[in-house]
Amino acid sequence: MTDRAWIAIGLVVFLGLITFPFWYDTAAGSNSARPELQKARGEACIYPTAYMLANHMHVLMEWRDEVVRKGNRIAKIGGKTYEMSLTKTCLGCHTNKKEFCDKCHDYAAVEPYCWECHVDPAAAGVVAARVHSAPAAIPEAEE
Ligand code: HEC
Ligand code: HEC
Ligand code: HEC
Repeated sequence: MTDRAWIAIGLVVFLGLITFPFWYDTAAGSNSARPELQKARGEACIYPTAYMLANHMHVLMEWRDEVVRKGNRIAKIGGKTYEMSLTKTCLGCHTNKKEFCDKCHDYAAVEPYCWECHVDPAAAGVVAARVHSAPAAIPEAEE
């Protein structure tokens, strides 16, 4: 194959990946191959679901920077208070990483490297020790 053809294929793959959240949403509305994901605990995500679908990776990076660079662990979102923690907060509601994060990432062919360091409590066998109610929202402190 010519270089030009390879470049064209590369471009198509790249565009497919970066626009994934958009066509994924559209496809999910009809009968698509969208995998069945595990239902989360709790009423709603920290931001609206559609926003999270497209932006969860940016939220995570922002949380990481807040914690690691600024030492701030608490986020206030829409009147609720959350600990900025991948394991405790995100996986506290999305308790099955395999059936939620991984399933969609496999489908989308993305492979976040986070789990080299961050713990998946279910895989580590500590899930039974976790609290029983949706853990993420910390009640508003009385002022
Ligand atoms: C209080 C519980 C809760 C917390 C905390 C939470 N989520 Fe969610 N999340 C939900 C619910 C409920 C939905 C809606 C879909 C469902 O019911 O499973 C959702 C939806 C999503 C979606 C879109 C899924 C889809 O089907 O389009 C993504 C992606 C997501 N969450 C990632 C995250 C990440 C990353 C974090 C941490 C930064 C997080 N969530 C924290 C409860 C939560
Ligand atoms: C419904 C589909 C879906 C679910 C569920 C989902 N993700 Fe994602 N995630 C994606 C897509 C698509 C991308 C790549 C988007 C892009 O590159 O613009 C992505 C990218 C990421 C990235 C950035 C990876 C990189 O290499 O740039 C991280 C981190 C991430 N997801 C974490 C999570 C975590 C943690 C969960 C579970 C709590 C989760 N995601 C659940 C679809 C999903
Ligand atoms: C080389 C190891 C390493 C990798 C890989 C890594 N992290 Fe972290 N991350 C850390 C350490 C260490 C901290 C600080 C932990 C603390 O102070 O609680 C941290 C903190 C965080 C925090 C805030 C605190 C917490 O407990 O969640 C978030 C959010 C986070 N990282 C997200 C990510 C995401 C998303 C990825 C993948 C795209 C990732 N990290 C990859 C080591 C890593």
